[in-house]
Amino acid sequence: MRILVTGGAGFIGSNFIHYWLKNHPEDTVINLDVLTYAGHPESLKDIENSPNYKFIKGDITNEAVVNSTMQRADTVVHFAAESHVDRSIIDPLQFVRTNVLGTAVLLNAALEAKIKRFHHVSTDEVYGELKQGDARFREDTPYQPRTPYSASKAGSDHLVRAYFETYGLPITITNCANNYGPFHDPEKLIPRFITNLLEGKKVPLMGKGENIREWLHVEDHAKAIDLCLQKGKIGGTYLIQGEEKTNLEITQMLLDILGMDASRIEYVEHRLGHDFRYAIDGSKLASLGWHRERSLEKDLPEVVEWYKNNEWWWKPLKLGRPNVDSSAQKSYGK
Ligand SMILES: NC(=O)c1ccc[n+]([C@@H]2O[C@H](COP(=O)([O-])OP(=O)(O)OC[C@H]3O[C@@H](n4cnc5c(N)ncnc54)[C@H](O)[C@@H]3O)[C@@H](O)[C@H]2O)c1
Repeated sequence: MRILVTGGAGFIGSNFIHYWLKNHPEDTVINLDVLTYAGHPESLKDIENSPNYKFIKGDITNEAVVNSTMQRADTVVHFAAESHVDRSIIDPLQFVRTNVLGTAVLLNAALEAKIKRFHHVSTDEVYGELKQGDARFREDTPYQPRTPYSASKAGSDHLVRAYFETYGLPITITNCANNYGPFHDPEKLIPRFITNLLEGKKVPLMGKGENIREWLHVEDHAKAIDLCLQKGKIGGTYLIQGEEKTNLEITQMLLDILGMDASRIEYVEHRLGHDFRYAIDGSKLASLGWHRERSLEKDLPEVVEWYKNNEWWWKPLKLGRPNVDSSAQKSYGK
């Protein structure tokens, strides 16, 4: 396969490229990434000279760059996006530009280049929020996005599906839970909390930490995409389930791993439109043979260890970059 990965210098994209080259060494990967503040080429330092890896600095909204890059691929895995909810509340238009327009430019080019598979990576946030006791999201749950981020991702999902229905472009879509793992930008909850604790700071927990998220190890995510590329039905959507935890439970796990106590928590206001709960019914993907192999209990200590051992990667990202907090003075990422 000749895979074009968009946004491969970001958190999930870089982990996906590592996973792919390790497990499919016969394939080639082209990484198209414009390197916004969230793009970190250092995450791919170890493979930058591999003969089957090529980095192209370019914007997915730029038709000329996208058209010429697309000619070199037969498969697309599309991660590139603006991904931070708090930033979307401050600058929604940038999210529409990248997530909606950028996806449309890629789809047009994919059609022109007769791409064999266009896999679109999306989020469970397109379904809106659940209250305690509500049924889990399924592939047929109506879209009800509540933030500019999730609305722009919903727009991109609709476009991808429309290119299948209208033009027959062979697409698959996955919508997944929050990811955790190495190379995760310290503006997001788990890495922000780990690095704050390592730096002797407090962690800003919204409300009473009662909001509920699902968590998925980034390698389990890569395996799920791999399976969808092999066995996913063309035109199909698959939800990727994680483990449900309140934000307070996650915080407590991190404090326990680091041998610290609850005095390190600083309770702050909720962000605007803070979704209460996301939860996924992953049975459709399970029917293809996927199951979660990693767990927070077993693998979160390894992630904390990674941040302890890789200050070279995250320290420069925190220096000189103010935390982006959309509503409260202090808040955190998704
Ligand atoms: N992180 C999560 O927990 C999570 C959960 C569900 C879905 N997703 C989705 O997965 C994808 C990847 O998320 P992530 O956390 O790795 O994001 P990220 O913010 O870490 O990385 C995004 C990457 O896209 C690049 N990019 C942004 N705009 C671009 C443009 N116009 N042209 C080319 N490249 C551009 C950035 O430079 C960066 O490398 C996104 O589509 C996101 O919506 C993420």
